[in-house]
Amino acid sequence: MSKQNIKMETIVSLAKRRGFIYQGSEIYGGLAGTWDYGPLGVQLKRNIQNLWWQTFIDNREDMHGLDAAILMNQKVWQASGHTETFVDPLCEDTVNHKRYRTDHLLQDNGVDPEGMTMQQMDEVIKEKGIKSPDGNALSESRTFNMMFKTNVGPLQDESSVSYLRPETAQGIFTNYKNVLDSFYPNLPFGIGQIGKAFRNEISPRDFVFRSREFEQMEVEYFVDPKRWEEAFEQWRSDIKNFLSELGLPEDSIHELEVPEEDRAHYSKRTIDFEFDFPHKRDELLGLAYRTDFDLMNIQNATGKSMEYTIKGTNNKFVPHVIEPSFGVERAIVAVLVSAYHEDEINGEKRVVMKFPEHIAPVRCAVSPLLKNKPELVKKAREVYKILKKKHGNVMWDDNGNIGKRYRRQDEIGTPECVVIDFQTLEDDTVTVRNRDTTEQKRVVKKDL
Ligand code: GAP
Repeated sequence: MSKQNIKMETIVSLAKRRGFIYQGSEIYGGLAGTWDYGPLGVQLKRNIQNLWWQTFIDNREDMHGLDAAILMNQKVWQASGHTETFVDPLCEDTVNHKRYRTDHLLQDNGVDPEGMTMQQMDEVIKEKGIKSPDGNALSESRTFNMMFKTNVGPLQDESSVSYLRPETAQGIFTNYKNVLDSFYPNLPFGIGQIGKAFRNEISPRDFVFRSREFEQMEVEYFVDPKRWEEAFEQWRSDIKNFLSELGLPEDSIHELEVPEEDRAHYSKRTIDFEFDFPHKRDELLGLAYRTDFDLMNIQNATGKSMEYTIKGTNNKFVPHVIEPSFGVERAIVAVLVSAYHEDEINGEKRVVMKFPEHIAPVRCAVSPLLKNKPELVKKAREVYKILKKKHGNVMWDDNGNIGKRYRRQDEIGTPECVVIDFQTLEDDTVTVRNRDTTEQKRVVKKDL
């Protein structure tokens, strides 16, 4: 089944039914743009995050990990430019006052807003007579800052204003000097972190793709300004390898060189890695050349030097930065879409999630062939306990007949099902059934 033909509704419904992702606060009618991860979703998310951490932090000599606070001094966001420029164009239905993102409205009406200023978007709306989804006239656009504002402490005035961070990156920049002083790493080196980010999106949509609360896995990679291109190319190739480890087909990934007018205010070059999502080809992650924009802003705002001295020389400069920025939610949708397969087994339709084994939320399921035979159940529980201790994410499954259990495990992407049957009692072998081929083989219990 081509990935383009998979509908978002199919993924959303499977995710809910099988305990991957639920709508946030659903029982109270929901809260737009928020999502909760169920037992399988949280395991899948952790597996993706662990793979990222292993790949980009643990397995490399040039990387350091970090976990910075979500709430930061408001000066961070003034210096970074977010209070001024982290905005989206917003227009309003003039009758019912519902608000929309202007570029999204254009897209929904078949107009590509890439590279347009807000004024140009408004002109197109006028020229084409584009109305709100409720059929009413639209107001002129204005900018809307996407940061969630809050107050820290009991005083509710301007001095206590803070924001839920809209990117994890600033936590890294503000700790660059700390890491430098503690470790004095050779250049180039990077700092990576995984954590929550928040954006008050005007119109959250397309499942978790555009959420108001989401997670990022970001690296700020500090380089000699003369060698940024080399590092950029290296990251480009490292990103592709990581996406392949997630099981995303190469032909579903497309690199988009972002034109200057569409780049974030801090970037001199950006490549968006796009994926063929069910709603459309869209941004999965970004690779940006942030120059010395952020470190210079911090240096200017705090008066503290952000310079790096090349060891054993007097050669000093403020490093430049390459930033690969992965969104966890978008990676999850891409993984779910890539894993989704439909086939037919003995004339019966089967849905099977072909997750790569190393990120599958359940590593294997253990079942007694019949749940009303105490001798089988006893043996199966022994096997379950051993595997559970070894792998953690092992499921006990004795519901329904064996065919139903296989279908259920296929639908949640369990790579292998171990079944304890009467032969086990005689020769200590079990059957191991492979998710993708549906083949079963007998394996000696101690070799599992
Ligand atoms: N520090 C750079 C930065 O934040 P970005 O392109 O704004 O750059 C990086 O965001 C990644 O974060 C995106 O490529 C996407 O994967 C994810 N992301 C951004 N906004 C998101 C949202 N509203 N919902 C889910 N993921 C989002």
